[in-house]
Amino acid sequence: MNSTLSTRLFEINDAGPLTELLHAAYAELGAMGLNFTAVDQNVETTLVRAQAGRCWIVEDEDCLLGTLTMSLPPLPDLRALTSEARFPQRAWLNQVAVSPAARGRGIAAHLWAEGKKWAHARGATSVGVDTAVPASHLIRLYNSWGFSQTDTIHHEGKVYDSAVMVRQLSSADA
Ligand SMILES: CC(C)(COP(=O)(O)OP(=O)(O)OC[C@H]1O[C@@H](n2cnc3c(N)ncnc32)[C@H](O)[C@@H]1OP(=O)(O)O)[C@@H](O)C(=O)NCCC(=O)NCCS
Repeated sequence: MNSTLSTRLFEINDAGPLTELLHAAYAELGAMGLNFTAVDQNVETTLVRAQAGRCWIVEDEDCLLGTLTMSLPPLPDLRALTSEARFPQRAWLNQVAVSPAARGRGIAAHLWAEGKKWAHARGATSVGVDTAVPASHLIRLYNSWGFSQTDTIHHEGKVYDSAVMVRQLSSADA
């Protein structure tokens, strides 16, 4: 990741700009017909989701370029949907997004490194993530990060099923 970029934790005042970033980033998924929450979520939802875990922001001066949230333990709605989210000491990866203009510069990889380091330091032994089955490019991305699919779930109101993917953490992630 470019050294002029900085990484910090989410603050309440970020909720508006972060919502705009999420809409811009998830527009391509919306265009695929996939109604991910972040395609059109409101500021209140952004605030709730960012505060439901540890949320990082990457920015260039005052411009938000990327975000990732890690929950430990996973949120109750997920815990109700899959035993994978009820597994002891499991963290969950949520709301990953990079501005379309800033793609391919390693911002998501940097945020993922921050997230897994944080989860490992807090005693997590594995991380889960779920994403739309038709978004095969995202399944490939999470495969490249070491995740393997272990379950399939359906979030109420979504037009797609979601693949549940899991990755072990080790001392190499510290
Ligand atoms: C997915 C996303 C966060 C990647 O952000 P990014 O900063 O461009 O990713 P990086 O530059 O850190 O790339 C990380 C790795 O993933 C790979 N990668 C990135 N986007 C990819 C894609 N769409 N498909 C497959 N691989 C991809 C890169 O080649 C890179 O691999 P490497 O580490 O082996 O070189 C970004 O494309 C995005 O915001 N997409 C829309 C929102 C979204 O899909 N969020 C996830 C919902 S579950």
